Amino acid sequence: MANVLVTGAAGFIGSQLAERCLEQGHTVLGIDSFTPYYDPMLKRANVAQIGAHPSWTFLEGDLVDLDLVSLLDGIEVVFHLAAQPGVRASWGQTFDAYVDSNVTALQRLLEASVAASLERFVFASSSSVYGDAECLPTSEDAHLRPVSPYGATKVLGENLCRLYHLSYGLPTVALRYFTVYGPRQRPDMAFNRLIRAALEHEEIVIYGDGAQTRDFTFVSDAVDGTIAAAWNGVPGAVYNLGGGSRTSMNEVLDIIAELTGEELTVRRTARQTGDARDTAADTSDARAHLGFAPSRSLHEGLAEQVRWHRKALRSVPTRSRQGRQLVRETA
Ligand code: NAD
Ligand code: UGA
Repeated sequence: MANVLVTGAAGFIGSQLAERCLEQGHTVLGIDSFTPYYDPMLKRANVAQIGAHPSWTFLEGDLVDLDLVSLLDGIEVVFHLAAQPGVRASWGQTFDAYVDSNVTALQRLLEASVAASLERFVFASSSSVYGDAECLPTSEDAHLRPVSPYGATKVLGENLCRLYHLSYGLPTVALRYFTVYGPRQRPDMAFNRLIRAALEHEEIVIYGDGAQTRDFTFVSDAVDGTIAAAWNGVPGAVYNLGGGSRTSMNEVLDIIAELTGEELTVRRTARQTGDARDTAADTSDARAHLGFAPSRSLHEGLAEQVRWHRKALRSVPTRSRQGRQLVRETA
């Protein structure tokens, strides 16, 4: 059993990672600053779901300001998930927030980690480092050609991890998550928006022709791969974590219509700047080193997410509390 730090512990993936670590008997320190990228009430609700647990400590604070050296005292594994997410929102004036959370906060945490006795430093990177990938499925050694400023910050993040590994021997492992979905999914992400719109009889907006594909990854599979990386990831390595269900948005619409039993009203608008056309993960390394084995088909995972939305709608019926989105996207 280990003492672990989860940054971004109030977020979609981080809160479920913290829960799983507690279930496995680890002692968990969670940190989150409740950034306003989306409604912080949703993040507070995620923390509330974790509840009281003797091995769980939560600290509200920004990694850019906190005394990280003292916080890392006794920590054996860092799971660094805190970030400003969102591909399409990363242009323009919002970029400062990406630099603060995805670059400065990471650099401070890496610097503080040099003095700590860490077994692993696991960094949440992204499929967006590939941009329009040179081949599909894409293996980790492909060229990194991001098409969004967000993706560029994740490339920089991976490079910082590599530098601290090479220069200071920090046992970093970077994980490239591919479009994660499931319960608690961020309200700016496609499935959350589509399912909510379907259940509330509102218009669904599809960017572009809907033929773009994603290698969607169920959240508990991403969490399993992340925990496995802490024990079995090769220091200095990078791994793709993709669910293996590459699917187009048009196919997703059909599955959501079937699962909700609703007729969907779909409006198609321009393709969004910063959106990669297709993603598909070659997970050979993750399978071999981490025992990564996605457990859900897209249909099964979407059914779980639809159930979660239905439950949330029943318990908190007002739209604003359901998932008010503070991100602006150009339609
Ligand atoms: P999320 O926004 O739900 O969680 C991130 C959390 O980090 C938020 O709760 C936020 O308040 C916190 N945070 C941000 N900056 C912080 C700071 N400076 N100090 C403290 N806390 C801070 O996002 P998510 O979807 O759960 O993503 C988790 C990680 O996985 C991120 O690094 C993201 O870039 C990466 N990722 C996510 C996906 C996906 O499909 N969700 C795919 C690829 C990579
Ligand atoms: C997701 C996450 O949001 C990023 O944080 C993450 O880094 C990235 O995955 C990744 O894998 O690296 P994205 O693939 O854009 O980014 O995920 P969604 O927001 O779920 O969008 C999927 C597709 O649906 C995109 O083509 C998007 O343009 C489209 N979309 C989204 C719509 O057509 N309509 C919407 O309302 C929302």
